[in-house]
Amino acid sequence: MPYTVPKLKSYTAAALDKAAKSVREELHRRVADLAAAKVEGRFGKAAPDVKAFRDEWMARTNGVVTQLNQSWLKPAPPKHKRDVGKLVNELREHITEQVGNALEGLPSLTRVSDASLQRALGIKDPTGRLDITLPGIRRPLGAEHPVIKTMHEIVSVFRNLGYSVQEGPVIETDYYNFEALNFPPNHPARDTQDTLFIARQESKPQRERLLLRTHTSPVQIRTMEKMKPPIRIVIPGVVHRNDPPDASHSPMFHQIEGLAVDTNITFCDLKGTLDHAMKALFGSSVKTSFRPSFFPFTEPSAEMLVSCFICGGSGKRGSEPCRPCKQTGWIEILGCGMVDPNVYAFVDYDPRKVSGFAFGMGADRIAILKYGVDDIQLFFNGDVRFLEQFG
Ligand code: PHE
Repeated sequence: MPYTVPKLKSYTAAALDKAAKSVREELHRRVADLAAAKVEGRFGKAAPDVKAFRDEWMARTNGVVTQLNQSWLKPAPPKHKRDVGKLVNELREHITEQVGNALEGLPSLTRVSDASLQRALGIKDPTGRLDITLPGIRRPLGAEHPVIKTMHEIVSVFRNLGYSVQEGPVIETDYYNFEALNFPPNHPARDTQDTLFIARQESKPQRERLLLRTHTSPVQIRTMEKMKPPIRIVIPGVVHRNDPPDASHSPMFHQIEGLAVDTNITFCDLKGTLDHAMKALFGSSVKTSFRPSFFPFTEPSAEMLVSCFICGGSGKRGSEPCRPCKQTGWIEILGCGMVDPNVYAFVDYDPRKVSGFAFGMGADRIAILKYGVDDIQLFFNGDVRFLEQFG
């Protein structure tokens, strides 16, 4: 039922006030109804009729504003015209403002198609228009990062050989990163030129000082501390060194470590295991070669090379020199060796009963070789145009 303004019974200030008050109260009731529907997201049949509301107050024929003119102002005796005129003006302004505010954002929702559609979709946004012709928001699937992908591949080669995965902290103590790995106290690797130390550790004894691990080898110690032989583990992880970034260096990079400790493990086991792993990773035609090296925690130690899987070992690509192997036909891929007996003393293993081998390789370097990437920085500066090529 459209609202009919009350008749003015007299023109006293009190009577005018009372009549104006009843109009305002009615207006506020209607506005509150609409606001509630807006908040609750009521559409369609349950919704108040927005057009009827607007017409009720604003329509030229018989809207409340018109009614006020017709039934309050027009018939008012001349001596009261001023007062009634002022009141009607005030009410008109108030009504116009309130109705305008209440309608804001509503009209589009009164169209049956939108309203029922929104209801069907369970959408409760009474202020937004729903344009079903717009394409949806596309969330592109991410791809595995090439370094992580390479690490997974390497890990899975060793899992197939019965190795399990161990991880350890990136912030390490000097003890695990150096001391228990048989580094002598003044070994140059402990220098701040090579290792990133946590600040303000000087008051602690050296072995307790914290640093960013420079290799994954401390996890060898952590694992042997908690597990007895036989041990066969791989240790993927992030490591840091105090190297300025360039095409082949990054202060943060990734390693995969391996450790096998058991009775009667020999250098032949090391060679056979790594030769198999390289063939699984780079193709069955690659060859491996070992040359002597030094690490404080392995004795003897070796560097392992694989025949260049880019030029097939020839050192040339057509008439061009092969860059990845520097024309040698061989690529240095990892460090390895038999676990130094001194290390066993730190973890309570009996060096007369057990033996083992360890190896460590740079996952980023292997990814660089595998994918023919010429700058390690590309892996870490987050350029989607680079990364999406691995999707
Ligand atoms: N930790 C050595 C490095 O970072 C690699 C390595 C691991 C060598 C295990 C031998 C055995 O260079």
